[in-house]
Amino acid sequence: MVIIALSHGMHIAKKLAARLKKPYSKLEVTHFPDSEIKLKFNTNIKNKEVILVQSFYNNINDCVIETLFAAETARDLKAKKIILVAPYFPYLRQDKRFNPGECISLRTIAKNIDEDFDKVLIIDPHLHREKTLKHIFRISSKKLTANPLIEQYIKKNIKNPVIIGPDWESYKWAQKIAEKIGCDFAIMEKERYSATKVKVKLNKKIDIKSKNLVFIDDMISTGNTLLEAIKAMKKLGAKKVTCFAVHGIMVNNALNRLKRAGATVITTNTIPNKAAKIDVTDLIASAI
Ligand code: R5P
Repeated sequence: MVIIALSHGMHIAKKLAARLKKPYSKLEVTHFPDSEIKLKFNTNIKNKEVILVQSFYNNINDCVIETLFAAETARDLKAKKIILVAPYFPYLRQDKRFNPGECISLRTIAKNIDEDFDKVLIIDPHLHREKTLKHIFRISSKKLTANPLIEQYIKKNIKNPVIIGPDWESYKWAQKIAEKIGCDFAIMEKERYSATKVKVKLNKKIDIKSKNLVFIDDMISTGNTLLEAIKAMKKLGAKKVTCFAVHGIMVNNALNRLKRAGATVITTNTIPNKAAKIDVTDLIASAI
């Protein structure tokens, strides 16, 4: 087995290789002036099980192309098995035709992953209309969750928490973690007016007095969902607020905007960002 870091997987691949005591190599990726990419394996992968580690953030579409190029090349170089470890996997929200004529992006991505890989591992995929990864990929797939890591972090660092999920889908993180910890929780309802504008309200009354308010969601993208949720909870008297998310995508200055709203923000390192305090390397290692 060899662990290979793609351009957006370096923050995890090296630690993963050390943890598994397996050789590590970094894919060499170069850009032409017109932005086309070229890549090169710097280690012999013939007859080896190759773990390609790639998270998908910042320039997601470049990450996708690089991942497909790498897998196809690994196949061509006679790798025995090609596994994609994707701490964060993109396009999962585009799993249906919302308006006539639209592309079902996830279907195209999945078809290409199926073609080039033997197996895929994803941490907390945003499964919504598609219920499991088996409905998305034909190849073997494994869903991992960072919930136990977030649960441990809260138990260790936050006394007397009350957990809020900022939208109905977040129950898979907020409710499940609250049940494990054994604390109160509530889920908020969200109305989305556009890709960047949302409004939220609490769906049931809970006691937040003298409690440490903790929001948990799968991802922070623009931060707007959490900003609205914080605003709503502050109106109800919340003071100290901590926001947890598995994936800190952090676009549009999300982290600073959340901090300015008075929140402490903690994410895992599926995507590197300044709030990434929870390491998922062991979670991945134990699944390989
Ligand atoms: C949506 O269903 C997700 O679970 C997140 O709540 C959402 O994607 C967060 O996006 P943003 O930070 O842009 O509001």
